[in-house]
Amino acid sequence: MGVEKKRVLVTAALPYANGPVHIGHLAGCYLPADIYVRYLKAIGKEVLFICGSDEHGVPITIKAKKEGITPQQVVDKYDGIMKNAFKSFGIDFSYYGRTSSPVHHQTAQEFFRHLYEKGVFEEEVTQQYYDVEAQQFLADRYITGTCPRCGNPGAYGDQCEKCGTSLSPTDLINPKSALSGAVPILKETKNWFLPMGKLQSTPAFQAYIKRFEGWKSNIKGQCASWLNEGLQSRAMTRDLDWGVPVPIEGADGKVLYVWFDAPIGYISATKEALLASSQQPDVSSLTWQDWWQNEATELIHFIGKDNIVFHAIIFPMMLMTHGDYILPSNVPANEFLNLEGDKISTSRNWAVWLHEYLEDFPNREDELRYVLTSIAPETKDSEFTWKDYQTRINSELVSIFGNFVNRVLVLCDKYYEGVVPLAFDFSNSVAYEKIEASQKICFEQIAANIAEMEQDLKEVKLRDAQACFMNIARAGNKYLADTEPWKLVKTDEEAVKGILFDALQICAKLAIAATPFLPHTSKKLVGLLGLNQVSWQQLNAQVIIETGSQLAKPEILYKQVEDEEINKQLERLQQIKTSKTQQPSSSDLAELKTNITWEDFDKLDLRVGKVIEAVKVPKADKLLNLTVDLGFDKRTILSGIAEYYQPEELIGKLVTVVANLAPRKIRGIESQGMLLMAGNDFGKLYSVSPEKEIEPGSVVK
Ligand code: MF3
Ligand code: ZN
Repeated sequence: MGVEKKRVLVTAALPYANGPVHIGHLAGCYLPADIYVRYLKAIGKEVLFICGSDEHGVPITIKAKKEGITPQQVVDKYDGIMKNAFKSFGIDFSYYGRTSSPVHHQTAQEFFRHLYEKGVFEEEVTQQYYDVEAQQFLADRYITGTCPRCGNPGAYGDQCEKCGTSLSPTDLINPKSALSGAVPILKETKNWFLPMGKLQSTPAFQAYIKRFEGWKSNIKGQCASWLNEGLQSRAMTRDLDWGVPVPIEGADGKVLYVWFDAPIGYISATKEALLASSQQPDVSSLTWQDWWQNEATELIHFIGKDNIVFHAIIFPMMLMTHGDYILPSNVPANEFLNLEGDKISTSRNWAVWLHEYLEDFPNREDELRYVLTSIAPETKDSEFTWKDYQTRINSELVSIFGNFVNRVLVLCDKYYEGVVPLAFDFSNSVAYEKIEASQKICFEQIAANIAEMEQDLKEVKLRDAQACFMNIARAGNKYLADTEPWKLVKTDEEAVKGILFDALQICAKLAIAATPFLPHTSKKLVGLLGLNQVSWQQLNAQVIIETGSQLAKPEILYKQVEDEEINKQLERLQQIKTSKTQQPSSSDLAELKTNITWEDFDKLDLRVGKVIEAVKVPKADKLLNLTVDLGFDKRTILSGIAEYYQPEELIGKLVTVVANLAPRKIRGIESQGMLLMAGNDFGKLYSVSPEKEIEPGSVVK
């Protein structure tokens, strides 16, 4: 797939602009898409690679509420951060758009209007929860209540995260609005639905789903289960004040469903890419219709598994009912990447953020690309650990690829001042039987690995493809180890020249083969080899670097990853974990606890206390044992703040104490209360203390 036609339009899921990009995004979607695109370009396809920020939807409004800013401010902030991170990692989009752009709004509205005028939508009046205080309809996520299944009082209108049941807002017992806390009322509202059930049985859709047969099994599986259950109509408009306004009469206060507008973002970004064609000379002769409405184009969507139904079913239905568009010929969806044993989570800050990686590991983008491709979650969820990161870099990139190239360059520098030596014909004498045999095996293995790598690239099996790449370097190392030119140099200079000539050709093959996977390294290596330009077609050439040409001064390709570097990352993650268990994040609006009554609050007895003694608790890194004077009483209180406060700095400090908390034994010591601490998502913790000096025992109310 992907290579039959001349022109390929590759899209990568538009990431929500409500947080920075992390390694899970990179491994699951953007890196595979980039590798594939680089390969297609290398073999001479005309490619357009489209991405951009998905700036609508409820998560963005939630983030805005949480940070006390407008949704536009949220997306403006993250659009730039995401774009830069992708750029640094060499994700080579032809164009990175955004769904708040005027071209997008117009494109999405036209698309909607076209379907509307064709009579595709079903109009339906339903009862939706409405917040009278906030004067707006409530998105499912904005309603909390008690789960009818497990009794969790903090379930959301779309799902109970405790028992995993998916819910509708009307399933919730005692629903509350997360905006105002008010009890929402049911109010009638009209929306426009895509009749997916009806469309499922059309001949066009039935013909389309035949394509699934050649697709990855994860996507086939998910789609089969949706289709077997029978598709349900889904509202393509929503009562929300953030998004693309619905462009028809009687739809005031409504916007397009984010999953209606976002994929159209691929189309709008294509239009913008061509408008900006002064920077895109390679695609400038084509129109956006050539890319979207012409069967000579192949359309491929790279996505994560949570996007499958939208890209394999809903968006194709939209394109199909519109009538003018081509349909995707493949949707290579990946599974998820976990981090150190846990699901990656933006809201819990459990992630390796790309912008932070770049600070800690400057100029080591290809190292991360290599590791993430090696462990790409192509067929099942996979796991990133820092230890594995270190091992793969040190024992593969450094010891195999980097080491091979470096040995060759250093030897050529030492023996020939970097001038490429003459080739040698080892078949001209039986004396060279052994070298000739090694040479033959080496080049056979390399040719086999190149062939397999190309086949894997074609089939988007990028993990395997990259493994073949590394095997080329392995074969090169074996050739040097077998022939030992550094020993032979004392007795047979001509043979040494021949071996190093061969080794240089292998270096050149590696430089070319590295282009899709390790673009920064590939470029550097091309320079070190004194080559101006290389092409993929040269991969199987016998001579890529000519005798007599000049190499650059040797430089290493990769440096070792040291234990300290890894430990620093592990400590950071450890800190996030501890700050979570001590201080469940209550800053996230989406995780707000359910309301309590005045009576509930009145049960708390909060007092000002003065710390008079503070010592570490032996064998417990995080705990301090405090003696706190409450005026009427002196209490022993254990507090998990040892990472944030030295015992000395607490002596004499005023703190806030929950004075009527039932005593609890921790590590054999009875703790008689709790200190109030303010914490955030970044592992900080500060004491909540009275602003001015006040007597211990004073009531906090
Ligand atoms: N923003 C979505 C996500 O991050 C992906 C949107 S893909 C598009 O899951 F097709 F809708 F653009
Ligand atoms: Zn539940």
